Amino acid sequence: MPPPTPNRYASPSHAGVVGAIDDALRSYAGACGLRGTLLDAVGYALLGGGKRLRPVLAWRCAEAVGGRGAASLPAGVAVELIHAFSLVHDDLPCLDNDDLRRGRPTLHRHSGEPMALLAGDAMLTLAFDACDRLCHTEPAELRLALVRELVTGTRDMIVGQVYDSLGGLPAGLSELERTELIHRNKTGALIRAACRAGAMLGAGSPDDADRLSAMTGFAERLGLIFQIVDDLLDVEGSPESVGKATGKDADAGKVTYPALLGVDGSRAEISRLQAESEALIAPLGPPAEPLIALSRQMASRDR
Ligand code: IPE
Ligand code: IPE
Ligand code: MG
Ligand code: MG
Ligand code: MG
Repeated sequence: MPPPTPNRYASPSHAGVVGAIDDALRSYAGACGLRGTLLDAVGYALLGGGKRLRPVLAWRCAEAVGGRGAASLPAGVAVELIHAFSLVHDDLPCLDNDDLRRGRPTLHRHSGEPMALLAGDAMLTLAFDACDRLCHTEPAELRLALVRELVTGTRDMIVGQVYDSLGGLPAGLSELERTELIHRNKTGALIRAACRAGAMLGAGSPDDADRLSAMTGFAERLGLIFQIVDDLLDVEGSPESVGKATGKDADAGKVTYPALLGVDGSRAEISRLQAESEALIAPLGPPAEPLIALSRQMASRDR
């Protein structure tokens, strides 16, 4: 593996990164060509809260390969649009039927089901426009690779949502393997896309095979960790602290880590995955330290 190139920029604080991401999301929403009630609905879902973890991850991954965090914004904005679409549709009555998201009524409770469906469609479509517009000065090869990342991440997220809600998983898997496959797809896939696309933009190329492979292994473990924590928050959190309904997964018959391994067993699995994920990117050296710090925060989050 080549030594990482030195990071030429001081790394901004987490709050500074979130601020830059929020600015980029707001600016894109204002320029995306929507108007009226559809723009209101997209603004409600996209700009009203959210931890912005996927764009922050993309930023930290760009830094970890020695690049500028801000170079990741085309990926961060696009993945956050796809994430917002996935949440709006996940909350619909035909899927998880949730009334609370980010501490407020879900979009279909706020604007009605037809508008929620269509605003989700709009955000998915606009993600590709956002990525393209924000990186129009990058080489064509990199822009195409970013589109492929977004397609793969979205496709696998939807596959995971189908597994989660409708079943149809491959035969012969144990209960734990089934749960892992659902989680890797429904939640892991967009986290993987955020990390890989951020790293490509940081490196200025999709061809940095060694570092991209380390980043992929890291992201896959982090994606799984993230959904295990989400499952734990459903068991242990309160709607006031997490901003969405809790205690729903068991009633809805969802397959989750706490249901299979218990709370302590789930935490042990998080620790094991975390050690593996950090070992994969430790060779990137000091530029990867903010990324490791972020992944630790994500593993111990309480909302
Ligand atoms: C919630 O994601 C849905 C999952 C994939 C677990 P987040 O916990 O990142 O939600 P926001 O964006 O901060 O609301
Ligand atoms: C959602 O998983 C994953 C998505 C692709 C949106 P959950 O259904 O567990 O997410 P929450 O708990 O509603 O945020
Ligand atoms: Mg769901
Ligand atoms: Mg849900
Ligand atoms: Mg959940």
